[in-house]
Amino acid sequence: MKKAILTSAILLAAGVAQASEDLTPRIEASRAAVKSFMTQLKGELQAGMKAGGPVNAIGICHTKAPQITSEVSKQKGWEIGRTALKTRNPANKPDQWELAVLNQFEQRKAAGEDPKKMEYSEVVETDGKKTFRYMKAIPTGAVCLTCHGEKLAPEVAAKLKELYPEDQATGFKLGDIRGAFTIKQPIQ
Ligand code: HEC
Repeated sequence: MKKAILTSAILLAAGVAQASEDLTPRIEASRAAVKSFMTQLKGELQAGMKAGGPVNAIGICHTKAPQITSEVSKQKGWEIGRTALKTRNPANKPDQWELAVLNQFEQRKAAGEDPKKMEYSEVVETDGKKTFRYMKAIPTGAVCLTCHGEKLAPEVAAKLKELYPEDQATGFKLGDIRGAFTIKQPIQ
């Protein structure tokens, strides 16, 4: 009897291992989607900064970031976006699963892991529907400090206050985790 239980436990473990192996293509597709999303966002940000400085770039981020998010989402049939523990746009606030992963990222960083390669994925089941969920940490680089750092230029602070009265996304330091990309792929 004991042996039978043990065997089924091993089979179960093998099944779990198999299921997680099958996720590799989804993880790779998520990485690729994040990369293209990030390239588009960075392109818009840099062009905006060059054309009219940070205040102009804030306006561009304000309109373009949500637009790029929904375009990429439509192309893929997934939900893709950005979230954070401290958000600028309240529309980016994390759900419960994202909150847990963001906290997990902070713990992993505190334990010495480099946020640059930090990611997490899982198949989540809600109301009988399975969803593959993926998150990738976004570290704070030097350029980000203009709009997310500890000391903002007065005109930058004023523009942010005007567009984002509930802004929490300031006070970051180089290397901090600014937030994360987040993806939901429905599983048929
Ligand atoms: C010119 C100002 C500016 C710069 C520079 C900037 N951001 Fe932002 N950031 C914004 C604005 C504005 C938003 C809100 C966009 C929206 O409405 O969705 C934002 C939102 C975000 C979000 C989404 C979560 C939230 O807080 O709503 C993340 C993550 C983020 N920025 C990371 C970064 C990183 C990483 C960098 C550096 C590579 C960076 N930002 C540089 C202005 C900026």
